[in-house]
Amino acid sequence: MIGRRAAPRHGSGRAGSRGPRPTRPAPRRDADPARRVAYDLLRAVEERDAYANLTLPGLLRERGLTGRDAALATELGYGTLRVTGTLDLILARCADRPLHTLDPEVRAALRLGAYQLLRTRVPPHAAVSATVDLVPRRATGFVNAVLRRVDRQDWDHWVDTVAPPDALGRLAVRYPHPRWIAAAFRNALGGDLARTEAALAADNARPETHLVARPGRIDRDQLAAEAGGVPGPWSPYAVRLPEGGDPGALAAIRDGRAGVQDEGSQLCALALARAPLDGPDRAWLDVCAGPGGKAALLGGLGADRDARVLAVEVAAHRARLVAATTRGLPVAVVRADGTRPPVRPGTLDRVLLDAPCTGLGALRRRPEARWRRRETDVPALAELQRALLRAAIGAARPGGVVAYVVCSPHPAETGEVVADVLADGTADPIDARSALPGVPDLGAGPAVQLWPHRHGTDAMFCALLRRRAR
Ligand SMILES: C[S@@+](CC[C@H](N)C(=O)[O-])C[C@H]1O[C@@H](n2cnc3c(N)ncnc32)[C@H](O)[C@@H]1O
Repeated sequence: MIGRRAAPRHGSGRAGSRGPRPTRPAPRRDADPARRVAYDLLRAVEERDAYANLTLPGLLRERGLTGRDAALATELGYGTLRVTGTLDLILARCADRPLHTLDPEVRAALRLGAYQLLRTRVPPHAAVSATVDLVPRRATGFVNAVLRRVDRQDWDHWVDTVAPPDALGRLAVRYPHPRWIAAAFRNALGGDLARTEAALAADNARPETHLVARPGRIDRDQLAAEAGGVPGPWSPYAVRLPEGGDPGALAAIRDGRAGVQDEGSQLCALALARAPLDGPDRAWLDVCAGPGGKAALLGGLGADRDARVLAVEVAAHRARLVAATTRGLPVAVVRADGTRPPVRPGTLDRVLLDAPCTGLGALRRRPEARWRRRETDVPALAELQRALLRAAIGAARPGGVVAYVVCSPHPAETGEVVADVLADGTADPIDARSALPGVPDLGAGPAVQLWPHRHGTDAMFCALLRRRAR
């Protein structure tokens, strides 16, 4: 079991069974390296606000972990982070003091131990003793006792014990998400709880890595062959990698012929480039370009049509990333505020606004993000999104096309922003579905919402608008 993907132990009938385990705290010894990495990752995320997906590769490298050990560390670290909210509800029932009063090092160990007991097939005695090995001697008895209580029931029984009585609350505990996020998904899915369940479950599966074959630089089939992947089903530039593929090792990624980019993101850039347009088609604008994935795709597509892209980004370091990603393409990068883009109003043929957002559409890729985001973040983001969208429409020429894109299905960031801005009377919606031929399950239009559980992509939202003639 150790070293391969750990399957949930749902319905294992272990309620009440305690299984073999040490009868007193295990003797101190060095924790095994994979668990130590997972533990250090949890602590970095909680104590230093680190991003797990940026921290883990460095930890693995530093400790020399590869192969099965690296896979186990990833499974334990990312897995624990994804389900932390529910683990904490369970641990709160098993500890004789509030979790927030514990030392962070003890809290991290309890979460890691509870994850192994409830969500993997690691034998209980190994899960407990390996966890006890992680904590200072003074805490070993406490950790041992709490984990023994955790091990009295399996995951399903614990969910029944700690979940609130209403259906949405139960889903939010069973497929761990904060309740406000589960509610946002439900609202985006028309109130349908079965679909909400599928969407929440998909966030807890390991995401595939998607590559983009940069137009004119490498053929998609050639990239698929080099990467050992398969062509994506809808974007003519997408390659989907098998689990465990390491894109950083590919020559095509290192030399910029290809990049890592979710197929849903590619589809949103493609939708803008494909939208029907009368008149000139030479001047394109990317209002929020960093780190440059969509700007690079637009630059490659624009090169074929003699179009040039102006890429605007407010953050200096991200503007530098855009410049690096788009080197050699007809893309100019400017550091500026997209609410006041440095262009003559009413002159751009195509405008992409890939707005800053909660990122609720990419929770699969950022294991801790769901617990870090706050519902109170949403109104300020929505206000910025509205301001940016008004500026994007203002930059477009009469008849020009604007794509409003966010990596979120939250209605306050998607349809509500578009509806509010359309009420100004400056633009009209275009049916984005016709710019994504062959992609199933896009809903009633005119905007489209992609989903991990339907499309295997991030939950990208894309609305296409046409600037009205004055
Ligand atoms: C969702 S990301 C864009 C991703 C990018 N389109 C890509 O595909 O790589 C949003 C970007 O908007 C930038 N941003 C935030 N506020 C901005 C503003 N007022 N003007 C311009 N850029 C802004 C952020 O720094 C971030 O890089």
